[in-house]
Amino acid sequence: MRTQLSFAPLAGIPTELLTVFAADTQTEKGPDSKPAPRLLTDDAAVQAAAAAVLSSGEYKAAANETVLLHAPAALAAKRLLIVGLGKLARVNAHKVRDGAGTAVRFAKPRGIRETVLALPSSEGLPHAVVARSAVEGAFVGDFDADTYRSDRKDQSIQSFTLAVPGGADRAAVEAALAEGAIVGESQNFARSLVNEPGNKLTPTILGKRAAEIAQQVGLECEVHSTEKLHELKMGAFWAVSQGSVEPPALIVLRYSPPGIPDGPVLGLVGKGITFDTGGISIKPADNMDQMKYDMAGGAAMIGAMRAIALLKPKVRVIAIVCAAENMPSGTAQKPGDVQTAMSGKTIEIINTDAEGRLVLADGLTYARQLGATHLIDAATLTGAVSVALGKITGGSFANDDATYGKFEQALQVSGEKFWRLPLGDEYADLIKSEIGDIKNTGGRWGGAITAAEFLHHFAEDTPWIHLDIAGIAWIEDSRPYIAKGPSGVAVRSILEWVRSF
Ligand code: BES
Ligand code: MN
Ligand code: ZN
Repeated sequence: MRTQLSFAPLAGIPTELLTVFAADTQTEKGPDSKPAPRLLTDDAAVQAAAAAVLSSGEYKAAANETVLLHAPAALAAKRLLIVGLGKLARVNAHKVRDGAGTAVRFAKPRGIRETVLALPSSEGLPHAVVARSAVEGAFVGDFDADTYRSDRKDQSIQSFTLAVPGGADRAAVEAALAEGAIVGESQNFARSLVNEPGNKLTPTILGKRAAEIAQQVGLECEVHSTEKLHELKMGAFWAVSQGSVEPPALIVLRYSPPGIPDGPVLGLVGKGITFDTGGISIKPADNMDQMKYDMAGGAAMIGAMRAIALLKPKVRVIAIVCAAENMPSGTAQKPGDVQTAMSGKTIEIINTDAEGRLVLADGLTYARQLGATHLIDAATLTGAVSVALGKITGGSFANDDATYGKFEQALQVSGEKFWRLPLGDEYADLIKSEIGDIKNTGGRWGGAITAAEFLHHFAEDTPWIHLDIAGIAWIEDSRPYIAKGPSGVAVRSILEWVRSF
């Protein structure tokens, strides 16, 4: 998708589809109150073209509610689309991101390949901030998980123009456009990896994809396999991969900007299980196909590194993706086995389906060994996190309030939803083992927390954030602004967290 800016008056811009936003200004709701939508543009010709439908009472400007007008009077555009942003008082950059996605997803199935979106007249929001969100949303909306469908692929929008109201700071909006494109494309890159099925994306192939993108954007990349796992004594990571004929991949991406010899080193650690059968503790057949997305945490790290390489923050970053396939076989690990992790801790395997924490244990230890001073991991780690928070909000955990504070700030920019859950000694007690140091499951209750406490053993006292994205990495029903399928969640938040250092 090509992106560009236009500073021309809206009425004169020739396009297949011009989109303008509207907001709901109704303050009280009574039996007789009529919807009160208001356009978020000062353009008189657009207002005149939309006047009839806005006063009809048919359209409320609810969030992502659309109405389309063909051949709008006195406009050079062939069609005028109005996209609602919901209540005026609650309009923000996140609503605009979704609204832009809605516009793009409206256009796609209608064979429209070129579209113009009018940036809302500033409702107290800086134009650059809204522009960045709008462009991100356009990219996010343009993505469909249809690469394997002959009938649907290649419907992408080819050209997206942001029409900027007069009075905006041009240089700032231009920079925002470029940034929004990088962020949106990086999120989509992660989504494209997550969408690949297990047979098309083995650990080795994930390693190749990481190396390719690293080469394109100028990151250092190493991809190791079995031998290196043995050399580093990564007994927990190896235990998961030993059941598969597919060798594991230990992917290391490094971003080291010149002229920053000391200061923090951020360690990004991602779970990269390219398929999770559960191993010997095998999963039921129902929905097992979904377990191709068990590498979404790893994909998020690769996507974030792509954006980091292009946006060049002044901080060193190392990403580690622990990729393996969790399979049952004659060589697979068994419940009751004891594994020795890279850190030296021994782990009693209770359930081979609790494999994500095993690969991450060694990934976290390795990140610390490589000099990481602050850690963040992302993983589709537990079904329990969805029981706690649904499929709307991710679970987050941290052993350091200051480091988590930066992440909360990052969420303000990214618009992604995470809710911090507790850690604590009483939870840690639930994974004590009589046979070894710890066991890999903590029973039925608080499953997302005991999983986090397991990781805590390997992050130790290094400031660390854990993101459990099991419930939000895959969108089960399409929304107006985003397709069904991989969400690419955490790319934007991790990026902003990195940029906060
Ligand atoms: N990959 C799964 C978690 C998962 C479940 C991700 C559903 C996405 C959707 C993870 O490896 C797993 O199997 N976790 C187990 C842990 C249990 C055995 C302690 C779970 O959550 O059931
Ligand atoms: Mn599992
Ligand atoms: Zn898993």
